[in-house]
Amino acid sequence: MRVVAPGDFGEAAAAAVVEMVAGLDAPVVGLPTGNTPGVLYAALRRLAELGAFDAGLWRPVAIDEYGGPRHHPCSNRAYFEQHWDAIPGARPVLQFDPEADDPDGDCLRMAEAVEAMGGLDVAVLGIGMNGHLAFNEPGSSLDSKARRVLLHGPSMTSARACWGEETPSRGLTLGLRELTGARAVLLLASGGSKAAIVQAAIEGPVSSAVPASFVRTAPNHLYLLDSAAGANLTLG
Ligand code: PGA
Repeated sequence: MRVVAPGDFGEAAAAAVVEMVAGLDAPVVGLPTGNTPGVLYAALRRLAELGAFDAGLWRPVAIDEYGGPRHHPCSNRAYFEQHWDAIPGARPVLQFDPEADDPDGDCLRMAEAVEAMGGLDVAVLGIGMNGHLAFNEPGSSLDSKARRVLLHGPSMTSARACWGEETPSRGLTLGLRELTGARAVLLLASGGSKAAIVQAAIEGPVSSAVPASFVRTAPNHLYLLDSAAGANLTLG
């Protein structure tokens, strides 16, 4: 676990993921969306503009997508256009297609694509208010693979801030097997609203009740927190 000052969070996140891909030629990197990683992408963009980071080497993979219209401004696709595609040299993100005729088949396509690339080298993850990882909601098994899921109430509440009345009830997500099976797992959490669930994930039982606790099962993992998100931790 690493705890940093809120103002240093973006730089620290970028440094952590760059450290995790060090030495890899074409790292397969699972990428999150949401409020938390915005500062990560901004920091990576600054590094790329300085020539200190070659985004073109990475093979980026979306970890999830809303089961709504693909081109909706609140889709993860739109998020990546704004935050990832703005990084000089960045390759297009491999993504779910929520409007595929067969969305379950589309999840299988993603699972097979990740497997064909040899699995994720690094999974960069946020944590939901209910402890979800990507859209692996509480109750998800550590063995779960990419699939379509029903979103739980807290995830829909967070989504409503952007989607409003159009909030999708489903999501498409990589499974906990693909995510926690990555060679390195980086979980990012910032802000005081995450303090309670971060404590449950790090200090509570490893359990499907809090999928983010499963990060602890990955041999190489790091919880990177800002001091507000880490405020409830009691262990040294
Ligand atoms: P947030 O989302 O960064 O917008 O809080 C995190 C998540 O749901 O994984």
